[in-house]
Amino acid sequence: MISVLFFGDIVGAKGRSRLKRDLPLLLEKYHFDFVLANAENAAHGKGITPKIIDELLECGIDAFSLGNHSYSKNEVMWLDPSKPVAFPKNLIGQFQNHHTVVLEKNSHTIALMSVMGNVFMENTDASWADELQVMTQVNADIKICDFHAETTSEKYILLHTFHHKLQAIIGTHTHVQTSDAQIYEGCAYITDVGMCGPFPSILGRDVDEVIRRFIKREKTHYTVSEEEAMLSFVVITFDDEYHPNNIKPYSILPNENLLEVINDCDIMNLLRR
Ligand SMILES: [Fe+2]
Ligand SMILES: [Fe+2]
Repeated sequence: MISVLFFGDIVGAKGRSRLKRDLPLLLEKYHFDFVLANAENAAHGKGITPKIIDELLECGIDAFSLGNHSYSKNEVMWLDPSKPVAFPKNLIGQFQNHHTVVLEKNSHTIALMSVMGNVFMENTDASWADELQVMTQVNADIKICDFHAETTSEKYILLHTFHHKLQAIIGTHTHVQTSDAQIYEGCAYITDVGMCGPFPSILGRDVDEVIRRFIKREKTHYTVSEEEAMLSFVVITFDDEYHPNNIKPYSILPNENLLEVINDCDIMNLLRR
């Protein structure tokens, strides 16, 4: 059996510090072959920096996907291109050719690829469908796509057009976990995995500020909330022929103990060290 842990969008310092605190404890107790995360909001709510990527690698994440905020911090330009970071293939920007990360661990290879939706998203220069036709030809035992998109319909279109070329499709960007995790004709799928960021908040942002901006039309910043972080993720397992046989979503609130919440679940018992 092969296991993959995938964390939703990491938001700001609170999201990072909860991961740094909890992920090593999780990895001590359970075996995962690959740990993946969307990091597009890791640096103060928007973008990434080389230092933050190094910190998150240090705490146990193997590879990252990104989204529309990939280039929000200037420091991203100094990222070592050899780092395991997948930039959306159809997002205009410098790292456009670093869109698939292939990792080898425990004699298994995994490809993490990143594309963005075309509906309600800016700065895309191509259709994800055209890009994925080429990207899915990558050589790997397990092919996972982070589909960073706004609408549920577009995410389902990707599922129904690429389920036979990918073993997992994980939706990101909306920061709210959906309850439709499923194995559809050999492909593990969830419309959105959720976020690792402040709770309560509005998608990780300060509640009061966002309300004032939307309802009173005030010009406010999208300040990252100071609340403690929740963790949202999925655990996916694959059989020895790399077919997914389970996908289990989790949302752990700030006051909940991660290890206690996952303790009595069947899938986690299989992964216990
Ligand atoms: Fe995000
Ligand atoms: Fe996003």
